[in-house]
Order: sequence, then C-alpha cells, then structure tokens
Amino acid sequence: MNDRLSSIIADIALEMAHISDRGTVANYIAPLAAVPDSRFGIAVIELDGTCHVAGDADTPFSIQSISKVFGLTLALGMVGDALWKRVGREPSGSAFNSIVQLEAEQGIPRNPFINAGAIVVSDILLGRHQPGETIGEILRFVRGLAGDESIMIDEEVAHAEQETGFRNMALAQYMRAFGNIHHSVERTLGVYFHQCALALSCRQLALAGRYLMCGGINPETGRTIVSRQRARRINAVMMTCGHYDGSGEFAYRVGLPGKSGVGGGILAVAPGIASIVVWSPGLNARGNSQLGTLALERLVQRTGWSVFDPAEML
Ligand code: DON
Repeated sequence: MNDRLSSIIADIALEMAHISDRGTVANYIAPLAAVPDSRFGIAVIELDGTCHVAGDADTPFSIQSISKVFGLTLALGMVGDALWKRVGREPSGSAFNSIVQLEAEQGIPRNPFINAGAIVVSDILLGRHQPGETIGEILRFVRGLAGDESIMIDEEVAHAEQETGFRNMALAQYMRAFGNIHHSVERTLGVYFHQCALALSCRQLALAGRYLMCGGINPETGRTIVSRQRARRINAVMMTCGHYDGSGEFAYRVGLPGKSGVGGGILAVAPGIASIVVWSPGLNARGNSQLGTLALERLVQRTGWSVFDPAEML
C-alpha cells in the first residue's frame, strides 16, 4: 500500500489545488480570517508509522474544535464515566454554537464536541487547578501524544476569542445557572479558548491522533493513553457528533470517525489502519472544511477504508 498511498495523496492534493469553490474561511475569530483559502495539507500515518504527506502538511494551523477530542480524553482520565452525568453523548442536530437545546435539557449539553459540551469538559479539567496549570497540562498531553515538544498554543488566537467569544460566554453563563459550570465563566473559558488555540500541522495532529487508531496505545512509546474500550467509545462519539449537524453527511460520505474544527482541519481515524488529517481553511455551511471533507471522500474511495465495510478494515 505504501507507494500507492503516497501517489493517492499526491493526486488528491493536486485535485484540490484546482478547485475554485473552496468554501468560506471563518471570520468570527479575527486571526483565522487572515489564513488564505488556497492552503491545503494532508497527512496519513499508517499503523507501522509510515507517514505520507502532501501540500501544506507541515504548516501549523488552529486546530480549534479538534482539540475537544484531547480535552475529552484527558477529562475521562480524570473523572471517568462520571463525566457523562454532565455531558450527553447524542448528536445534537444543531450548529456547533447553538444554545437552543440547553433550556429544555436543563443545562446538560448533548455531547462533548459541541461548544457547550466542550466548555463543560474544560470546567471538569479545571478541577482544583489554576487555569494556567490546566492549559499547561493540555499542552503537555498533546505534545506527548505527538512526540513533539515544539507544539504551541497561539496566544493571539486565544485572546481574539476571549475578546469576541460572546456566544460561548452566553453558553457558559447559561449552564452555570443550571449548576453545570462549577468555576467562574472567565476561568473555564480561559481553559477552553486556549485549548482551541492549539496550533498543529497536519503531520503533528495525525501523530497526536495515533492512539485512536491503535486501541488507545501510543504506537511509538507503547504507552496506554486510554483503554481499548475507551478509544472505541471516543471514536464512536467522533463518528456520531464530530461534525455537528453535518455528522450524518460525513459518516455517509467518508465512513470514518472524524472531528472537524473551524480552522479547517479534520482528524479522521481508520481504526487499525491510519490516522489521517486534512486541512483546508474554507468551510461549508455547517462549519466543516469543504475541501477537507472532499479530500477524505476521495481517500476512502481509493483505499476502500470504511468502518462500515468489514472486508476493507481487515
Ligand atoms: O468556540 C468556538 O467557536 C471555536 N473556538 C471552536 C469552534 C469550532 O471549531 C467548530 N468547528 N467546526
């Protein structure tokens, strides 16, 4: 597969370079608006560690909501299944920043990947720590997963969100009224905004996602990050909720667990086969990378990878 995969990825990058309808770059976080929509990167890391890249695969970008996978992983490690008392695990069918379900559902967000759910996860991560300690812990965790100490948080992005994150402030205040945010909104959102502002390249992010293709084990260090069952369950929540109200469409077109971010990245997992990251900053109407989704669709068409096709996953 090795050589074939490299040429498939090169073909995909070439095809994407020629597409003019590239979606719309997010502009509600000012520094994200400055990223050219011509950018495209892809990285695929196979189970044996072979890494295939094309395009801007080594340019760091704002991973935004993809960080919610790492936040969830850490929080489950801290409090275990008690987390599910404060956050559901059902698809929302609503936009990533929607507030509408919170009133009817008493401040319990539908899942950990919509903003409200990830804000509760940040509140859990805060525990008895200072925000700076929690942010440091998240950064250390992601660096450890990727085996790359150069990974940073983009402070400009974090501060921009702190200035303009009015919807997130509303979500957090509203959940606090229901008793589902335990710290001050400023402290909880400080953690959330910094986590979202992690900047990783496609290659670094695919490295960080390897534990999800390997049953919870970091294949480089042999370290257990989460149990096999937990890795499977995180993948399940990615499949059902990772693309918000576009999750059904993503499952239909790509058929792999995936998590998107408004920076235009998507982390997708082919269990037992590959950790995959695509990046193209232009978004579709649901806030998911337009060409990123198309690139993944092309990849699975050519490789046959799908969790819904057992013959191809064996
Ligand atoms: O809270 C926000 O709105 C952003 N920091 C993250 C949103 C996001 O990435 C949604 N993804 N498609």
